[in-house]
Formats: sequence, C-alpha cells, structure tokens
Amino acid sequence: MRTINTITELKEWVRAQKKEGRSIGLIPTMGFLHEGHMSLVEKAKAENDVAVMSIFVNPAQFGPNEDFDRYPRDLERDQQLAASAGTDIIFAPSVEEMYPKESSISFSAGELAEKMCGATRFGHFDGVLKVVTKLFHLTEADRAYFGQKDAQQLAIIESLVSNFNFPIEIRRGETVREEDGLAKSSRNVYLSETERSEAPHLHKALQAGKQAALTGEDPKAAVSSYLQAHTSGKIDYIEFLSYPALASAVEGEAILALAVQFEKARLIDNLIFNPK
Ligand code: PAJ
Repeated sequence: MRTINTITELKEWVRAQKKEGRSIGLIPTMGFLHEGHMSLVEKAKAENDVAVMSIFVNPAQFGPNEDFDRYPRDLERDQQLAASAGTDIIFAPSVEEMYPKESSISFSAGELAEKMCGATRFGHFDGVLKVVTKLFHLTEADRAYFGQKDAQQLAIIESLVSNFNFPIEIRRGETVREEDGLAKSSRNVYLSETERSEAPHLHKALQAGKQAALTGEDPKAAVSSYLQAHTSGKIDYIEFLSYPALASAVEGEAILALAVQFEKARLIDNLIFNPK
C-alpha cells in the first residue's frame, strides 16, 4: 500500500489504473479508522479492481466552535489498518494541497441540509459536498462508499450525484456497531467512562422507537422517554422522516434518527426501516 500526499501524484496513479482498464473504488474518510471504515474498504475491494481511501480532516465541514483542531488523528495507525483491509492507496493531502485558494463558487446543500444535523451544524453539508466533489473528480472513481451511520450525509451525496449526473455510483454500507450496540465512531474516544457505559442506550432508544412506529405509536416520543431515562446526554434532535427524501410525510422507507450531546462528544445514530 502506498500513501500519496499530492494531487499530481494521485493523478499519475489514476491515469495508470485507467490505462490498465482497472475500476476504482473510493472510500472518503477523515481517518482515525475503525471497523465502520474497514467494512467500506471490504465492500470497495469486492466490487472494484483497486481501492483508494482518502484521509483528510476537512476544515470546510467544521463550524467555528466545532472540533476541527482536536479531531483525533493518527496516520501511522490508519496506514496499518487500511493496509490490512486491502486498501491499495491512501490519499492524505494537506489542507493547502486540497484548498490552495479560496473559491468564489460554493455549494449549498439546500433543503436536505436544513433538518437533523443541518439544523445546528450550519454549512456542514456544504463543506462535505465541496470535499467529496473534489475527491470524486481527483480519483475518477467508478464507485464511492459511504456509511448509513451518517444517513443524512449519504442522502445529500446521493442527491448531488443524481441531480448533477456525476459519473460515479454511490454505494451504501450498513452501520457497524460495538458488541453492546454503540455505533462505531472516531468520536467515541471523547466519551468519559460513565458516558461510554450510557452510550449503547442510543441504539436501544432507536429500537424502542422503531417498535413504537411498527405498532402505530409515536416513535419520537418513545425514543425521547427512553433516552431521558437512560442517559445523561442532552438530546439535540430526534427525527422520524422519509428516507432518503427526509420529508415529514413518511411513506415507504423511513429514518428514525437522533443526536445526543455528551460533554465532549456529540453522537449520532439512526435506524432505516419500513414502518408499514
Ligand atoms: P468519517 O466520519 O471518517 O466517515 C467516513 C465514512 O465512514 C462515512 O461514509 C461514514 O458514514 C462511514 N462510517 C462512519 N462510522 C461508521 C460505522 N459505524 N459503520 C459504517 N460506516 C461508518 O463522514 C466523513 O468522515 C466525512 O464527512 C467525509 C465523507 C469523509 C467528508 O469529509
């Protein structure tokens, strides 16, 4: 496995793959890898000739009071994990390499970004669209892999790709969890011991909410009362919407999603299911 830091070198590698007729799978990440990321690599390896993982903590998607500076980073550990999962190339550019100058053109994720995480993380999804667009173009990937753990991000990227005819296929990966149900996340390292012991209740709350939805009860109320009884975290939001349209009228697939703020970590999780 090779680590590439510059766009010029990446493009050379991409050209060589294309010349050989190899298909490219892209796994965009911000590093500090865990099994959630690894499951996306496995999927990419199974469906493409080569897999390129980007590791880039993207400043454009962090708000001024968010955790850009203290976002966990460990490239050496990431290189070992990525290699063991069969990644062919890591693309790990610097901020200057990705954003050498300010662009006067910007992205607006629009309505899909107004709810859930977008209601408090202003501009977050615009920044995600900015970086994934660059990564799609730089890697010329045939397929890109995203986790359902970040379901709103996935819906917005799918919408970008289909509305603007990006020549790339977006593939979904299921949420990978710890044995106790906590969704794997690079931010779990921020949890205190007590918070870590409470955190599996986020998934349990969603399961209680799903059960409520399936029996015609109010899923949001069920999630809320479960969370209040079992965690000290502050509820940021609980949403029950259609998926991937994120509309209030639920027909067909639905998403039951939540965000809970602990002292140093804001955790998100969701379940996607058909309530009928
Ligand atoms: P990051 O949080 O590093 O996540 C990279 C990818 O891994 C995303 O597609 C995310 O949904 C997926 N992922 C995270 N936790 C997962 C889990 N427990 N199970 C399955 N997949 C999981 O999401 C980002 O980075 C960034 O916003 C990015 C898309 C790279 C743009 O900067």
